[in-house]
Amino acid sequence: MLEERLISSHLLDEDDNNENSIRPGRLSEYIGQEKVKENVEVFITAARERKESLDHVLLSGPPGLGKTTLASIIANEIGKPIRKTSGPAIERPGDLAAILTNLEPGEVLFIDEIHRLNRNVEEIMYPAMEDFVIDIIIGKGPAARTLRLDLPPFTLIGATTRPGLLSSPLRDRFGINCRLDFYTPLELGEIILRAARILEISLDKEGAAEIAGRSRGTPRVANRLLRRVRDYALVKGNGNIDFSLAKWALEMLEIDECGLDVMDRMILEAIIIKFSGGPVGLDTLAASVSEESDTISDVYEPYLLKLGFIQKTPRGRMATEHAYHHLGYPLKGNLQGKGLFSDE
Ligand SMILES: Nc1ncnc2c1ncn2[C@@H]1O[C@H](COP(=O)(O)OP(=O)(O)OP(=O)(O)O)[C@@H](O)[C@H]1O
Ligand SMILES: [Mg+2]
Repeated sequence: MLEERLISSHLLDEDDNNENSIRPGRLSEYIGQEKVKENVEVFITAARERKESLDHVLLSGPPGLGKTTLASIIANEIGKPIRKTSGPAIERPGDLAAILTNLEPGEVLFIDEIHRLNRNVEEIMYPAMEDFVIDIIIGKGPAARTLRLDLPPFTLIGATTRPGLLSSPLRDRFGINCRLDFYTPLELGEIILRAARILEISLDKEGAAEIAGRSRGTPRVANRLLRRVRDYALVKGNGNIDFSLAKWALEMLEIDECGLDVMDRMILEAIIIKFSGGPVGLDTLAASVSEESDTISDVYEPYLLKLGFIQKTPRGRMATEHAYHHLGYPLKGNLQGKGLFSDE
């Protein structure tokens, strides 16, 4: 389901080809996230002046907001190579040891989904981050001994959509902690116009604004919608994207004015109708819309929370008044007798 979702903020295959060409390479081209950019700039300059490697950086935030992009930009700005891997890809402590001992001085090691590192791999990471050393155990049983290896200084950049799942010893070893937040429609408009220039798509400001407003605060979604709308413009129009073409194409794609797609609306509808507005537990809700709990909490929920359509309470998720209005339902308590329930 997720893989086919048009507004999924996860990377789809098709994006891969296009993403590289429109991915900003310098901090000055990175739109929005002003606070994060300002901080990163200060730390980079300070590290340069101290002639030391940049402190370890943790980037957190929902998928598609630009964590991987920012990691590459940081490496670019400090003029060092970047090596990319991910938490689940590093299976054994030996894998991590091999990566770490092969780094060049000052190199950036990017670990995506760092909350998914194995616990025993993670333990290798602690002294590596703190003192640039690793302890390797040689042999087994009583004959085993530890060998301490020095590492070149390096900068670890960890990315996570779930900072809460990071163990505290790991979290504490990041000197710089950046939380990326959803982008404003204005910023997304700029991102879309920039991508259109690079991909040579004919698009005016009003068209960009219309796409931006429905991109759920996420650059990856914005870029993907831009490409879909372009297809409509080529096939059904004259190739140019203006306000009315964008609006029409997005309606054809069943993405509403808030950027919600069919799945978002199914989730809200489930809470309102099947669970009488909630509270409903995450797993129960996920089962009722045939989706994984993790996908609901990582991909759908952050934006629904941000829009104020759902509320998280200790007893589960609840639909807010906004959600009822948005979907056109009368408020909770007034639903009975409207023919919405199967037993009516
Ligand atoms: N600040 C930005 N300015 C311009 N374009 C951006 C910005 N942030 C992200 N993008 C665009 O959005 C796309 C997705 O960003 P990126 O892959 O960095 O997201 P991510 O946070 O790493 O996502 P995931 O959690 O899925 O790994 C990039 O290809 C890039 O073109
Ligand atoms: Mg990424």
